[in-house]
Amino acid sequence: MQTIFSGIQPTASGGITLGNYLGALKQFIELQNDYNCYFCIVDQHAITIPQDRLELRKNIRSLAAIYVAAGLNPEKSTIFIQSEVPAHAQAGWMMQCVSYIGELERMTQFKDKSSGKEGVVAGLLTYPPLMAADILLYGTDLVPVGDDQKQHIELTRDLAERFNKKYNDIFTIPDIRISKNAARIMSLAEPTKKMSKSDENQKATIFVLDEPKVIEKKIKSSVTDSEGIVKFDKDNKPGISNLLSIYSAFTGETILQLEQKFEGKNYGDFKQAVADVVIEGLRPLRERYHEILNSEELDQILDNGAQKANMVANKMLKKMENAMGLGRKRK
Ligand code: TYM
Repeated sequence: MQTIFSGIQPTASGGITLGNYLGALKQFIELQNDYNCYFCIVDQHAITIPQDRLELRKNIRSLAAIYVAAGLNPEKSTIFIQSEVPAHAQAGWMMQCVSYIGELERMTQFKDKSSGKEGVVAGLLTYPPLMAADILLYGTDLVPVGDDQKQHIELTRDLAERFNKKYNDIFTIPDIRISKNAARIMSLAEPTKKMSKSDENQKATIFVLDEPKVIEKKIKSSVTDSEGIVKFDKDNKPGISNLLSIYSAFTGETILQLEQKFEGKNYGDFKQAVADVVIEGLRPLRERYHEILNSEELDQILDNGAQKANMVANKMLKKMENAMGLGRKRK
């Protein structure tokens, strides 16, 4: 059976965004039946930007609860917190030692997050080698992500190939898997921009834990155009195209089917239909979340996940140390 690894940062107090959900988590749930899956809460990545410690702690647990409430099944998937598996940081260091500063400086996310800022921490630059370590420690074949992570996965492949060639051929070269209709969910306020956790405009981003009324309000006030025709055209109708993608990602209907369904309908009716689909699609998550959040079961899931992840990751870490000649030879 092939192996899948992916992770989400625990960086938003409202839980994850609709972009994270449709671009990543929803894929995870669909894939867990057919793959050996590891889904991580990447808290060490989160500290590359300033975090309040109490908020971070809360968000880590909240994200774990969201994973489970959304339908990740701990019997099928290994769910764990990155910092509870020390091999990630250790392997991350080794991957830093095969990364070139120039290639890290060229990462668009690094450029976006650092440009014009003072006091940019080194971790922001060395984030991608840690991400490579996350993936490579598990012999990962496939990484389901949104398309904003494409460059990081390509770098992971380069680093793995470089390591294999320079030291020993131990890493599987992972492939990327991007959802067809939810590769990049856009901001509701500025639909030419990616929907993001850190958007200051409250109306731009839907969080999966938003109340139904709030979701409805955000979708109804989303920016569209004045043409009045529900048609997919990313360049000229980014707002409507984004809503069509969201609808399609929830129901599985194709864009063509949706264009036919909403032919002759006005934007008000269309937006209401999108809101209904989103609210309904997130209902199970919303209903289960609070039950799971404070349960002992969640701690059990994370304990078991960390135990399994540590076992698997430590084996690869040993191979990496042997390949690089670190430590002493042991039987
Ligand atoms: P993060 O936490 O920013 O996002 C988590 C996942 O959500 C996807 N995503 C989106 N997909 C569609 N539309 C959007 N608007 C949107 N916004 C975010 C992201 O592509 C991602 O899949 N570096 C990663 C976390 C990470 C990771 C890993 C991922 C660390 N180690 C190993 C995969 C494998 C990140 O910051 O994701």
